[in-house]
Amino acid sequence: MIRKKVLIFGASGQIGRYCVRKFSKENYKVIAVTRNKHQKAYVLKTQAPIGYLDIEETNIFDQSKIEELIVKSDVCINLVGILFEKGKKNTFKNIHTIFPKILSSICAKNNKKFIHISALGLDKVKNSNYALSKVHGEIEIRKNLPNAVILKPSIVYSVDDKFTTKFMSILNLLPIFPLYYNGNTKFTPVHATDVSDIIFNIVDKEIHSKDIEVIGPEILTFKEILEKLLKAINKRRLLLPLPLFFARLSASIFQLFPSPIITLDQLNLLKYDNIKTENGITNYDVNLPSKIYFEKGINEYAYNWREGGKFSIKEN
Ligand SMILES: NC(=O)c1ccc[n+]([C@@H]2O[C@H](COP(=O)([O-])OP(=O)(O)OC[C@H]3O[C@@H](n4cnc5c(N)ncnc54)[C@H](OP(=O)(O)O)[C@@H]3O)[C@@H](O)[C@H]2O)c1
Repeated sequence: MIRKKVLIFGASGQIGRYCVRKFSKENYKVIAVTRNKHQKAYVLKTQAPIGYLDIEETNIFDQSKIEELIVKSDVCINLVGILFEKGKKNTFKNIHTIFPKILSSICAKNNKKFIHISALGLDKVKNSNYALSKVHGEIEIRKNLPNAVILKPSIVYSVDDKFTTKFMSILNLLPIFPLYYNGNTKFTPVHATDVSDIIFNIVDKEIHSKDIEVIGPEILTFKEILEKLLKAINKRRLLLPLPLFFARLSASIFQLFPSPIITLDQLNLLKYDNIKTENGITNYDVNLPSKIYFEKGINEYAYNWREGGKFSIKEN
């Protein structure tokens, strides 16, 4: 029996797919919103049993369509986000500030619960448009809907990510990999399974009015993350500290590609640690601890990037 209806924007993405699986498994009906039903239905339809998933195609700035969807749902979750800007419409401001502002105002008008995914450690960052747009989005949400839950995850990984999978592909090919800021930046990587469990429990336990930093069970530096990825794919590579001048030069070239490995904006962001803030409330504080350690998490799928496949090395 269906318990509640959750409306998910960005359901076809990494965290979205895990949420569709988690919510539908727990007898929630998911209304998944995508910009392209034909392209994304293939991914989405395999995530939930028949009867537990509706797929809706919409322009995310079509306010009357959004309101129609919000009215027929109990909870609205926003997972829409971009890592780089493309064209005049897909800007950080439109996606991370204006869109959450619209969603939160419609949720407020219709008295619906709203969960928004922002990102961790943005408050101190001054020179990243990604960070600023996310922070402005949080401010707009709080103006419209003090009851909203804003989640701020550290880096989220899984077989569906654009982080570990991209890095493992590059580490497989290149003999040398650059270490930005000497590889010292700290992260608390959190698996998408843990993130979707946290989102589910926030809805199910009716937690509201909170900013929650979503962190994994350990702190790892950028260099330690790369070393663990190399171990998982059974490769040895030279991790070379890259002087900032060359890092900036390479990022300014990479950002000209259609799907850049790194942009100048991301390089600026990478300077700041991505760990729990001093006074922040984390998922641990609301009794929703993360369970998956990075090495164990990546070993579940890293064999796809390993010569000889899954059984080619002895795993601990
Ligand atoms: N992954 C991380 O490490 C991480 C860390 C901190 C915060 N976050 C935040 O968490 C949220 C979800 O992350 P994710 O990793 O699941 O992202 P993702 O895999 O990139 O998915 C994002 C989804 O947003 C939708 N989308 C992208 N660009 C859009 C646009 N221009 N207009 C409308 N929809 C668009 C896409 O859905 P359709 O193509 O189906 O329309 C896509 O499935 C994002 O807000 C992200 O910033 C992620």
